[in-house]
Amino acid sequence: MNSKYTPFFESFTFRSGVEVKNRIVMAPMTNFSSNPDGTVTDAEVKYYARRSGGVGMVITACTYVTAKGKGFQGEFGGDHDEFIPSLKQVATAIKEKGAKAVLQIFHGGRQCPPELVPNGEIVSASAIPAEGNGKPVPRELTDQEIQSIIQDFGETTRRAIEAGYDGVELHGANGYLIQQFFSPHSNRREDRWGGSIEKRLSFPLAVVDEVKKVAAEHANGPFMIGYRFSPEEPETPGITMAETLVLIDALADKNLDYLHVSLQEFWSKPRRGVEDSRARIEIIQERVGDKVPVIGVGSLYTADEVLKAIQTGVPFIAMGREMIIDPDWVQKVKEGRETEIVTKIDKSKQQELVVPDPLWQAIIHTPGWFPMNE
Ligand SMILES: Cc1cc2nc3c(=O)[nH]c(=O)nc-3n(C[C@H](O)[C@H](O)[C@H](O)COP(=O)(O)O)c2cc1C
Repeated sequence: MNSKYTPFFESFTFRSGVEVKNRIVMAPMTNFSSNPDGTVTDAEVKYYARRSGGVGMVITACTYVTAKGKGFQGEFGGDHDEFIPSLKQVATAIKEKGAKAVLQIFHGGRQCPPELVPNGEIVSASAIPAEGNGKPVPRELTDQEIQSIIQDFGETTRRAIEAGYDGVELHGANGYLIQQFFSPHSNRREDRWGGSIEKRLSFPLAVVDEVKKVAAEHANGPFMIGYRFSPEEPETPGITMAETLVLIDALADKNLDYLHVSLQEFWSKPRRGVEDSRARIEIIQERVGDKVPVIGVGSLYTADEVLKAIQTGVPFIAMGREMIIDPDWVQKVKEGRETEIVTKIDKSKQQELVVPDPLWQAIIHTPGWFPMNE
């Protein structure tokens, strides 16, 4: 291995006691490939196994904590104990290859396609549709329903523990329900769940507290809890960079194992809310300091791109598309073969790359999503 890449291969012990062998993480990616009943498919399990041999940890596709929060066709379920064997298949496949397995848990809120949820009824913090033509108007959740969803996150965490995961990641990013409560766009409530920024934080923090409680009660060994968030929203009103710093301060006090910043571009700059010309991730890393480790992500393909990112002081780098395009990315760097890293999808390589059909079709038919060899 070229010695400049040694920082990638430093092991790390998280606050919970979970130890990872290196700093490269497979980013959570929905693969549309589970069975209609919410169980995982063999193709999906093989896809994870193929990508778990090099990275320190794998964060799974999001799983729904209640059927009312299912956000994608072919998403796997975490909302019933009957799913524990199915959840376990993924955890086992990942762990057998030497990576830690983290289950991303989720409720889609107003982003759920109505055809995927019972009675087609979608819900959110308030009855405000997402921006864009023809987006359905969600029904505002009652106080009791909100408390029940918080428990659903706890219950899915218990199932993750029973299925053998090393941790859960709360999906508080990408405009889904947890973010919808923090966002002044989707949350116009005036009860204890909305109004001031502190009240908009109540739901995300209540979910964190519930999941921590369940982990303390049920985990027999070290169990990680991470939180993923998106730093800004394009809408007005919407989450600004300044508001994100308030969220980060609150999360950093929660003794979490990590914070994961969801970005398409690692080096993207703030839109509004702060007078700062640095990248969002640099501002966030400075704010967090050493209170909690940060995972950065976004359009990093080559070993040198990842090196430059890690040199900012962000201790972990997640890779999504790159892990689909080249499942041997980490091994190649480790063996001094970084020049052999593949950075574009080759349309003839589905079998070799072990990518389930629904995901493959989505990749090759969505222009501009993945870098591609034409
Ligand atoms: C196919 C696909 C599915 C994704 N699904 C999820 C998901 O379930 N949860 C999530 O937090 N992010 C999801 N993302 C976002 C990625 O985790 C990541 O933040 C994004 O792709 C940018 O990183 P990259 O350039 O390394 O791919 C998805 C991305 C892709 C490409």
